[in-house]
Amino acid sequence: MTKANYPVNKFKALQTPFYYYDLEVLRATLSEINAQTAGKSFQVHYALKANVNPLVLKTIKDAGLGADCVSGGEVQAALDAGIPASKVVFAGVGKADWEIELGLDNDIFCFNVESIPELEVINEMAGAKGKIARVALRINPNVSAHTHHYITTGLNENKFGINLTDLDKVTDLVLTLPHIKMEGIHFHIGSQITDMSSFEDLSVKVNEIQEHFESRGVKLEHINVGGGLGINYEHPNHFPIPDFQSYFNIFSKHLTLRTGQTLHFELGRAVVAQCGSLISKVLYVKEGTSKKFAILDAGFTELIRPALYQAYHRIENLTSELPEEKYDVVGPICESSDTFAKDYSMNATQRGDLIALRSAGAYGEIMASQYNLRKLPKAYTSDDLAI
Ligand code: LLP
Repeated sequence: MTKANYPVNKFKALQTPFYYYDLEVLRATLSEINAQTAGKSFQVHYALKANVNPLVLKTIKDAGLGADCVSGGEVQAALDAGIPASKVVFAGVGKADWEIELGLDNDIFCFNVESIPELEVINEMAGAKGKIARVALRINPNVSAHTHHYITTGLNENKFGINLTDLDKVTDLVLTLPHIKMEGIHFHIGSQITDMSSFEDLSVKVNEIQEHFESRGVKLEHINVGGGLGINYEHPNHFPIPDFQSYFNIFSKHLTLRTGQTLHFELGRAVVAQCGSLISKVLYVKEGTSKKFAILDAGFTELIRPALYQAYHRIENLTSELPEEKYDVVGPICESSDTFAKDYSMNATQRGDLIALRSAGAYGEIMASQYNLRKLPKAYTSDDLAI
């Protein structure tokens, strides 16, 4: 996907800002995932939290991925998209009763459980329905993900999962609960992980924990290593598809599966980030005392990642080939943090230019808000805009 691939003429007729999803990029990404997991006891669940656009979800379902959900709304969206309940996992530290009920009623594959009180509630609710809930214990492996601290989840200080020191206590309890079947263990150490050694560290930790369970006579049917594979935000044109080969190979090489065991993954960002762009229009170019501001009609209401995580998104001027100039690229929201980039070089711009904020397919549209009473933008796909 380079500048030349955008249907700019079609864009000109649309109300900005809007999200644009290139389904060819998504399909190529999904093919690569399937190619790299073929013949292995691997099951990839798409983490719906990254993006639930119906056409994106349908494309993912068509490729045969399962779903990783963190709310009743996501469980319902996965089922509505046609993803079979037998491929749905449901995680989250705070599942409400109605959400647990939805999972039980639909016989989802597994609840990833994060605490003793949650286990007790699921046991009770499953009992009332005469069912047995399949669960995996989410264990906090205390492995660093070497990523932004807001999106690090696998350290003892984080709120997620059961700490290693409590593992025996929780296992003792789980084995006595009549309406719970403990089938697996679950981990997730963080997001936007580009240092692959973190996944190697996780694999080694999983092996130790698995041995610990075996020494206690507990046999596990599956292991879930969560998501977290990062993408290349700097060079989306050169690296539109993440390095799935290295990623899956790390687990093949370092994580020892027992016979009949399956290894589950919950990838979000790596599946959808690069297929999406936020398309915006330049409203004004304002000359400051020492710099120029390109003021867009999109702001952190449409893409919050730069404001929230100081995240970098590549910015391209789709309608100018003029020599590059530097701008602070900002949105219209009444907050200083509504800045996409500072001193950013792009083709010289003027009012009316169309701008693409790249790699916005993950945690873009789904995190949009109506702050300042702004309208939630529309989304279009390459299929919608095909000639
Ligand atoms: N599994 C669990 C249990 C998770 O908490 C997450 C993400 C995933 C899977 C998917 O992770 P991914 O493969 O997408 O890295 N809004 C932030 C990211 C938050 C991630 C939260 N958990 C951002 O825009 O960077």
